[in-house]
Amino acid sequence: MSRELGISRAAVWKQVCALRREGYRIKARSNCGYRLEKEPDRLDRDLLDQPGLKYYRAVDSTNLTARYLAEEGCPSYTTVIAEEQVRGRGRLGRGWHSPAYSGLWFSIILRPEMISMAEAAPVTLVTAAALASRLKREWGLEVKIKWPNDLLLEGKKFGGILSEIKGEPDRIEYLVVGIGLNVNQQGVDFPIELKTTATSLFAESGREFDRTALFLSLREELCRAYELFIEKGFYPFRDQVLSCNSFIGRQITVTWGGGSLEGTAVDLDENGSLMLRDVSGKVHRIYYGEIS
Ligand code: BTN
Repeated sequence: MSRELGISRAAVWKQVCALRREGYRIKARSNCGYRLEKEPDRLDRDLLDQPGLKYYRAVDSTNLTARYLAEEGCPSYTTVIAEEQVRGRGRLGRGWHSPAYSGLWFSIILRPEMISMAEAAPVTLVTAAALASRLKREWGLEVKIKWPNDLLLEGKKFGGILSEIKGEPDRIEYLVVGIGLNVNQQGVDFPIELKTTATSLFAESGREFDRTALFLSLREELCRAYELFIEKGFYPFRDQVLSCNSFIGRQITVTWGGGSLEGTAVDLDENGSLMLRDVSGKVHRIYYGEIS
């Protein structure tokens, strides 16, 4: 290649690295050369060219972009999707690994008019329930929900939800629900610190997904779920979360802000709060936190 192009081997290598960053899978063997194994699996922009859908090649974080759009007054259900996030954000100030062309990274803006901030809190669980239900119905995937925002397959996390809210206690200006799903990543694609805990739909099912079709299907399910939630609250989703939860009946530790509590997860109340029985038998209602 370097002879034909009249450039140095180092220059060829540099271009190969640039193509890899763009999602091309290229195998290199010393003294042999390169082989193109796979072209980048880009989202289909024609299918995403719809009102209320904003596609970006790369963003800082789709939640952040969604917040800017919300501040500018975009309508409810506007959705931001990006091929890549360079500073994807997880809960509790963590990062979210969001490489190009392999997962789905998107955020939906909601402007519910008649509900308070406290009533909106279960939106994360409603999102988890809607995603689990569509993935089961359409693709037969047995997704488990780990309260309040993790989606698991075979005990490993493939999806997470980050909800952010702006408003006053009795009036929501907007809600941003950010969803990250590992879709077509192979085990080797995960950074070392995620290798034992993270998975993808591909890694668990052995099939590659059409990310555009998957996204459009999940967005449809989510919009329907949010309409029901805004009208009727969390209760219609409670049974579904309970039927695919990974925590009820188990010995867990819940951590939040500055505290933590150990006990048995016994139930979810009608607002999606976790009921935890400690060793003395006292039952606590936990509004938010992280379980392990
Ligand atoms: C978590 O499990 O900690 C939540 C992860 C949420 C990740 C998604 S990816 C799309 C949206 N934009 C972000 O920066 N984060 C969320």
